[in-house]
Amino acid sequence: MKKDLILVVGASGTVGSEIVRQLKAQGYSVRATTSKPVKENTEELVHVNMATGEGIKAAFENVDKAFLLSPPGFADQYAMVSPLIQEAKRRGLKKVVLMTAKGVNANPSSPFRRAELELESSGLNYNIIRPNWFLQNFNTFWIQGIKEQKKILLPAGNAKVSFIDARDISTVATKLLVSEEFNNQAFDLTGPQAVDHDYVAAEISKVSGQEIKYKETTSDEFGAGLLAAGLPKDYADFMVTIMGFLREGYSAAVTDSVKKITGRDPIAVSQYAQDYKKSWM
Ligand SMILES: NC(=O)c1ccc[n+]([C@@H]2O[C@H](COP(=O)([O-])OP(=O)(O)OC[C@H]3O[C@@H](n4cnc5c(N)ncnc54)[C@H](OP(=O)(O)O)[C@@H]3O)[C@@H](O)[C@H]2O)c1
Repeated sequence: MKKDLILVVGASGTVGSEIVRQLKAQGYSVRATTSKPVKENTEELVHVNMATGEGIKAAFENVDKAFLLSPPGFADQYAMVSPLIQEAKRRGLKKVVLMTAKGVNANPSSPFRRAELELESSGLNYNIIRPNWFLQNFNTFWIQGIKEQKKILLPAGNAKVSFIDARDISTVATKLLVSEEFNNQAFDLTGPQAVDHDYVAAEISKVSGQEIKYKETTSDEFGAGLLAAGLPKDYADFMVTIMGFLREGYSAAVTDSVKKITGRDPIAVSQYAQDYKKSWM
């Protein structure tokens, strides 16, 4: 029997690239999207710009299932994702897996929650995954402070966070895309333990052989840093707001979703620090 053709949005990104790898390893046909220009669409790679809607219709041609996310940098995630949900509905896909973020369902009018509600009421088979803060933020967004100042610089107070390794998110998403077992459910995805930023700094220190410390900054400094890095003002404001939720302790809860779906424990901070050893050098 022919295996499903699965569309993966954000396929070159942290979560998407590992989904593509895992699906291909299991013999599925994958169609990746990119917002970068392509000479010509192929079965395997199509141009989609979610900010303009360009390429969406063509991307869904002959597709059986889809993984959707909203790229970072866009504060109105509903506007980004909704046209894709509508196209999936129009074509009657067998299933859609949507990644949002832990906590978005606390506010029914938040853009991400509106996208979730649209998918839930689409009549399609779906899963929604809501990951907590990624461990991979330390080797990407927060890496400059770690490398240049030996510091994790964030306005996170001493809050605990059940950080998740993005590789676990990809494994969960892959499983949900190829299985009907968990249809029409939403899952909060976390790592195995809630730890503070001093703990993460200590784990990175052990592996790197350098003394990395967590240093609390102010929200204003954090916001200014995001703007200096080129983020749009509305997205920088969004990040400052959700970092405030983190600081208040809303990111500490631990769930068993990764184990329930994949059958194995989520990756611990120590393992992540080890696996990304090259990033700290
Ligand atoms: N980081 C966290 O701690 C965290 C926590 C919870 C939830 N999340 C959610 O996770 C998502 C980000 O996932 P990620 O880290 O895997 O993303 P990522 O690594 O930044 O990758 C995003 C992908 O989107 C594509 N893209 C960029 N602009 C686009 C556009 N205009 N149209 C279509 N595609 C575009 C990019 O590929 P091309 O350049 O090839 O187009 C890129 O591969 C966000 O929705 C965020 O809210 C993140």
